Amino acid sequence: MKDTLQLRGMLRIVVEDVAEQAAYLRELGVESLEYEINATTLQPAEAARRATPLSPPDVIASTPARALSRNANAESRAGSVPPMQKRSVTAPRVGEAATVPSDQTDMAKQTTRKSTAAPDTPAPMETLFGIVTPMDEASLPRPDETLEDIRLDIGECVRCPLSQSRHQVVNSEGHPNARLMFVGEAPGADEDAQGRPFVGRAGQLLNKIIEAIGMKREEIFIGNVNRCRPPQNRTPTPAEASTCKPFLLREIDVVKPEVIVVLGNTAMKNLLGTKEGITKLRGEFQDYRGIKVMPTFHPAYLLRDPSKKRETWDDMKKVRDYLNHSTVTSDK
Ligand code: URA
Ligand code: URA
Repeated sequence: MKDTLQLRGMLRIVVEDVAEQAAYLRELGVESLEYEINATTLQPAEAARRATPLSPPDVIASTPARALSRNANAESRAGSVPPMQKRSVTAPRVGEAATVPSDQTDMAKQTTRKSTAAPDTPAPMETLFGIVTPMDEASLPRPDETLEDIRLDIGECVRCPLSQSRHQVVNSEGHPNARLMFVGEAPGADEDAQGRPFVGRAGQLLNKIIEAIGMKREEIFIGNVNRCRPPQNRTPTPAEASTCKPFLLREIDVVKPEVIVVLGNTAMKNLLGTKEGITKLRGEFQDYRGIKVMPTFHPAYLLRDPSKKRETWDDMKKVRDYLNHSTVTSDK
């Protein structure tokens, strides 16, 4: 009797969980789902340590007890990561110790540390051979640097002309050990006003996409190729992109995500250097220095053409399945 009651309670939680996922999927324009019952999606203890929530098929395939621990894990992980807050960080002068107010959150665990910042990123140069990107050198990983070091290096950046028109620098945010990272193009008006990436309408849709694969925004790392809003939301110029991109590449090196989703043409071309467009390459895993990269449509594009949501959902299922299956070899 007690067992029956317990089982009923667990089943109710599973059903509620699935209903919640279904609501997100409807918002995403997904009409039907293939639930695969696949024993290989069961995650080992290592995965539980990383506390990646399972995807809808896993919930169906799993025992209620797993669904319960999934919730507990997701909550504990989310709970342990305070949401990123807007912060003002004073850029240090060369050789000066950089300080971050101690009430600031996640990345500010070490409140005072010497900046390992290298000299400012050199400006791109137009040469006979096109735009030379001396920042390739600047984007080389710097041993032992932290996300905070990178943030301090960026400071109140004036390395490119976008600094003239922006309100504030919009830095990346998210879990410092995220398994999944999203990369967008550049902040829009809402992001420029709030100082956080993907908080406008496209950001709301991105949140739904994240939730549809059974994850929470807090466990993901989100950044843009450019951190300052271009006037009228124009595409950043190659020079602007190559001035800012090294900071993103350094963040990738620190976070070491297993998968990066590049959103739209600009993000994809800047990270992968591809000539092909997003319509051609989306849905197929690409490689960035050994990291799986999934190109998909930008959520702003999906808002303009909702019929493309179906393709993005297909792409995101590949990401979800890869993450669910790659935990065996994961060392994080
Ligand atoms: N679009 C982007 O590419 N990035 C943002 O942060 C917001 C909208
Ligand atoms: N063009 C883009 O830049 N992004 C998309 O997502 C689709 C078309």
